Amino acid sequence: MADIISIKNIQSIEKVGAKPRFSFWGSKPGENFLPVLAVGLLVAASLLLAAFSASCKAKKAEPIKEGRTGEAAKPLYTIGMSQCNLGEPWRVQMNLDIKNEAEKHPELRVVFKDAQNDSLRQQAQIEEFINAGVDLIIVSPKEAAPLTAPVAAAYEKGIPVIVLDRRVLGDKYTCFIGADNKKIGYAAGRWIVERLKGKGKVVELKGLMTSTPGQDRHTGFREAIKGSEVEVIFEADMKWLEPQARQEMESALARFSPIDLVYAHNDPGAHGAYLAAKAAGREKEMIFVGIDALPHEGQMYVRQGILEASFEYPTGGREAILLALEIFQRQQVPKEVVLTSRYFTRENIDQGGESIEKLLATKF
Ligand code: FRU
Repeated sequence: MADIISIKNIQSIEKVGAKPRFSFWGSKPGENFLPVLAVGLLVAASLLLAAFSASCKAKKAEPIKEGRTGEAAKPLYTIGMSQCNLGEPWRVQMNLDIKNEAEKHPELRVVFKDAQNDSLRQQAQIEEFINAGVDLIIVSPKEAAPLTAPVAAAYEKGIPVIVLDRRVLGDKYTCFIGADNKKIGYAAGRWIVERLKGKGKVVELKGLMTSTPGQDRHTGFREAIKGSEVEVIFEADMKWLEPQARQEMESALARFSPIDLVYAHNDPGAHGAYLAAKAAGREKEMIFVGIDALPHEGQMYVRQGILEASFEYPTGGREAILLALEIFQRQQVPKEVVLTSRYFTRENIDQGGESIEKLLATKF
């Protein structure tokens, strides 16, 4: 309020200044001209200064904050990014995709936090971002339920939240970005049924089942193998982790022979299973299928003949930054952005893989 009054005051004084000057200062025209002019200029200068600082305060709604070196004058949006862990190459890649895109936009600053696979720590990070007054939050949650309330709290306080890759419950967030995990699991299932010619014994190594991609990759896969003679003889939650997958696979190997195929919900899981089978001298008895298909991970395993197929799971990092920019420009954004996916086998990898849509359209 005070700011508005002072701005009005300046405007009215400027108007006064347009009237016959010297009578305003209580002297006749032509009398004591210089001292009057000097005082007048001094007053005008201080009033202009007051007007400038008042207008800066009045623009408070614009998130103008300290910038990176040399950019202090530019408006800067601070984005808080909470990554559930950085233990897997896929998550490192997601952060890199965010960083690379953000660096193209000097008005953005991204503060990264690593929750180290701990939901309590990740909850605290979201609260920290809220208290720090960031302009937008990107979160790739470890688990759906524990992150739902902090994300909703930020959203209800008016901080836009982009949920990336793993979902939260309910709809109190700005936008979800991710590929369709049910479809990916279904496509993997269809490919597996075809590859096993409709019959075989399969080990399913599941991603963390309190996270939505694990649930969806499981449901989609089971739907696809329904009606075939592909049988899941062993299933375990390896929590997305390679060492855990290796351990679970050791149990499967101890209990079952033969095993025709391992379907793991991510490439680290498939690789862990391969290492266990190799250690037991049984890796040639079965084939391995994973999900993620990073060029330097899943795709590389396919080239090396370790995995028979890997289904791409795009990180969405670049898309999250592009969406954040739209939000800052006050554009309407969709509640959900679904990313497309490809799959890679030895046959198609040199052509850059194939879209899963095409696979799903194939009549087997
Ligand atoms: C990494 C990861 C990926 C997987 C994704 C699912 O933490 O396990 O391998 O595709 O998370 O959210």
